Amino acid sequence: MTAPLRLGVAGLGTVGIGVVKIVRQHAALLKARTGRDIQITAVSARDASKDRGISLSAYDWESDPVTLARRDDVDVFVELMGGADGPAKGATEAALDAGKDVVTANKAMLALHGQALAEKAEAAGCVIRFEAAVAGGIPVIKALTEGLAANEVSRVMGVMNGTCNYILTRMEHSGLPYEDIFKEADNLGYLEADPTLDVGGIDAGHKLAILSSIAFGTRPDFEGIEIEGIERVSIDDIRHASDMGFRIKLLGVAQKTGRGLEQRMQPCLVPANSPLGQLEGGTNMVVIDGDAVDQIVLRGPGAGEGPTASAVMGDVCDLARGLRLATFGQPATALEAASPAKSILPAPYYLRMELMDKPGALAKIASILGNSGVSIDRMRQYGHEAPTAPVLIVTHKTTRSALDEALAAMEATDVMASAPVALRIETV
Ligand code: NAP
Ligand code: HSE
Repeated sequence: MTAPLRLGVAGLGTVGIGVVKIVRQHAALLKARTGRDIQITAVSARDASKDRGISLSAYDWESDPVTLARRDDVDVFVELMGGADGPAKGATEAALDAGKDVVTANKAMLALHGQALAEKAEAAGCVIRFEAAVAGGIPVIKALTEGLAANEVSRVMGVMNGTCNYILTRMEHSGLPYEDIFKEADNLGYLEADPTLDVGGIDAGHKLAILSSIAFGTRPDFEGIEIEGIERVSIDDIRHASDMGFRIKLLGVAQKTGRGLEQRMQPCLVPANSPLGQLEGGTNMVVIDGDAVDQIVLRGPGAGEGPTASAVMGDVCDLARGLRLATFGQPATALEAASPAKSILPAPYYLRMELMDKPGALAKIASILGNSGVSIDRMRQYGHEAPTAPVLIVTHKTTRSALDEALAAMEATDVMASAPVALRIETV
């Protein structure tokens, strides 16, 4: 008879408790599907006395996650504490040193230390799995690593932070400004303990770094990502973009170009009728282009107890079945160092500006754009609130450098009431 697979679960918050529930509720199902009993031996969190809504008395309690990771009766260390460094990294390293496999949902740790951890795991003959780290319940790591393994991937893109998508879609539907919906998201418990991880695009950047590594065979390169958050997206931009048939998304794009690996996470306009444009609330979507498969679109819940625990347990089931994959889809020592490349591919842009309402103002702006080689596709001027007039321009495809030249020249004029907003339009 095959021995049970014994888990040590460190972290009993949203995800950890979700994992405990699935192990209990689906014991028979898990055994039927993996051929083994899956059991929890011991658990760890900071506060042993906290009421977590379910009894944990069946499990040993370890106050130190490192001790938990090293226990002889733990086969798989399940790291669900979070944080790039500190106890999560320390206990993960301790588990690998002790020859244990690791399952984690920790995107920050993998984006920043994934290469070193993968090398450590491989040297120790251990496996690290992390389906829950990217896009919650969507099995995108599995899709890239396994189902699409025979493809040369040309692009990975998507909406990978549910909180930002919630804020942007709620702003559009409610007509309320960013600050109000940010507070609402906070009250609903959607924001990370450090909200800049969400709204600053960092959490989504961590996820993009992980996907890029698997897709392009490069070491995770979080530092190489151009990141801009959603803090400066105004209700006016959302409204105007909508009027012009677009929606604003915090969109991650990674693609290998002749110049290197382009990775960016920034607010972009996407066509409102595209799959990404129709994405509502906290839902995530990842779009993958491969040479053989063409394009696939994965959509689903990006966070929450059930979806994230589902992904963690998918990894646990793989280990129970004996599936042992290299962390980022190929041996860590074979991964190339990423060579970061800024985006130079032309794209259309959305520009919003407040112009002084005086003769020649619009002509001056049009002429500056023309001088920088930026061609106007569409333009609208809305009702003024003297002395300024809001003007929207959608450009034809242009390079970011040509646009930046034009934006700098505009700011040097006496017709701009405030700094112009420029958002890339991504065709999907
Ligand atoms: P959480 O609700 O804040 O729970 C964190 C848990 O870790 C708590 O039980 C906490 O203990 C424990 N912990 C923190 N520091 C510890 C330490 N030094 N020693 C022992 N235990 C410690 O977090 P979560 O939302 O479950 O997230 C867990 C991981 O999953 C993170 O890496 C997160 O990024 C990732 N993730 C979460 C989601 C989601 O929807 N929540 C989705 C995808 C990925 P106490 O309870 O005693 O304070
Ligand atoms: N803060 C993350 C989000 C949680 O909003 O998507 C899931 O990783």
